[in-house]
Amino acid sequence: MLKSHFGLIGLGVMGENLVLNAERNGFSSAVYNRTCSKTEEFLRGRGQGKNIQGATDLQDFVGKLERPRRILIMVKAGAAVDAVIDQLSLFLEKGDLLIDGGNSDYQDTESRVKRLEGKNLGFIGMGVSGGARGALEGPSMMPGGTKASYLAVESLLTRMAAQVEDGPCVTYIGPGGSGHLVKTVHNGIEYGIEQILAEAYDLMKRIKGMKGDQIADILAQWNSTEELSSYLVEITEVCLRTKDSLDGADLVEKIMDKAGQKGTGLWTVVTALQLGAAVPTIYAALNSRVMSSMKSQRIAAESSLKGPAVKDCDLGSSSDAMSPLMDAVVLSCVASYAQGMELLRIASSSLDYSLHMPSIAQIWKGGCIIRSRLLKRIQDAFNTDPQPVNLMMDSWFVYQVNQRLPGLMKVVAGAAEAGVPVPCFSSTLDYINSYRTGRLPQNLVQAMRDCFGSHTYQRLDKDGSFHTEWLS
Ligand code: 6PG
Repeated sequence: MLKSHFGLIGLGVMGENLVLNAERNGFSSAVYNRTCSKTEEFLRGRGQGKNIQGATDLQDFVGKLERPRRILIMVKAGAAVDAVIDQLSLFLEKGDLLIDGGNSDYQDTESRVKRLEGKNLGFIGMGVSGGARGALEGPSMMPGGTKASYLAVESLLTRMAAQVEDGPCVTYIGPGGSGHLVKTVHNGIEYGIEQILAEAYDLMKRIKGMKGDQIADILAQWNSTEELSSYLVEITEVCLRTKDSLDGADLVEKIMDKAGQKGTGLWTVVTALQLGAAVPTIYAALNSRVMSSMKSQRIAAESSLKGPAVKDCDLGSSSDAMSPLMDAVVLSCVASYAQGMELLRIASSSLDYSLHMPSIAQIWKGGCIIRSRLLKRIQDAFNTDPQPVNLMMDSWFVYQVNQRLPGLMKVVAGAAEAGVPVPCFSSTLDYINSYRTGRLPQNLVQAMRDCFGSHTYQRLDKDGSFHTEWLS
């Protein structure tokens, strides 16, 4: 049998779909899965009649690949990745290349790149976005590692990736763990947008008494606008229209209101705090998942901690696409992207990643979960100024903020008076209000710090560091 161009380890849904994608694009493949029956099942099923051969063990697998070998690892992030690398390394030779396509912690990837490059093996940490369907039809991919390693797989990746009007949704991201860092931040933005849409749904349901189909009609209107046309709005409409086959009621109303997480949202927030980047909208989305998981406590508190009765407020109407609510959604989505991009800009300089921001916006325009028309504006903004202080300072975004801020304010005030939580909307409002305030009250914080701890302060009217004996 001829040697295969490409190897894949891990026949989960993502792995299966990625290898079918590679094969469809002309790359003969070999596959290996720890449980052999899974490999046999795949080759008898979806892999049948394709240019894909199975391997029974890792030595057999490596032997089936042409050199230099190109192997994509699709196993659970963490210890399993190291275990596969260690077992594989026994059979690899100089110049072979491994790609970790899972959602790995970028710091793990950083050390894996160093460890393997030290053994003359290539290692790419690659974020892959788009879910199962994207993996099959064309994902967005974020590969990081050495440029030489990337060039060795560029033709494979560019053919597998989603295609948009200005090219494939893959590019060389940068050195070390940069590919996984970019994917982590992608997921942080994903958390933000999901929570924003959940808040909009909750307000329409609880304040306006709207049903799934009525809310879905509003999302359909939003999805036809430049500001909100996106994959997540599109699938939210579908979720809201879906009925329970048991009784025909809205299926979402039958789903337990506890949201899980696999780590990337948390890593986004932790990395942001470590690097000094402000990501309050993304943090609010993460924290909302934590609050949601306290289901039994929330039910107990419902009867003791009394809020106001839910009362009406101005969210707009279906004839104006719920205009103030749409303002709140647009600005919160803008804030999620702006905060994610700002985190990447800061990380790029702290970690020496030399990230090319317009290219990151470009490869997110197709294939991935946060794909949206807004990303074209984001790409344009970074093409105009590759290092803007904040996306919100680009002229198109300045216009959006100025037009839509009154609507966001109205929605947050109305939700507060009705006692309905809107963590992403209110964090976004505080973020924008803080950002546009030339003088914040941290002068008083500085005074307190100096008062109890002699931490010193700077003055507005003269240079230097000052201390006052406040309590004497
Ligand atoms: C993607 C997604 C995906 C991610 C899930 C789970 O880009 O295809 O980001 O990679 O793993 O969305 O994320 P949580 O379980 O943490 O919500």
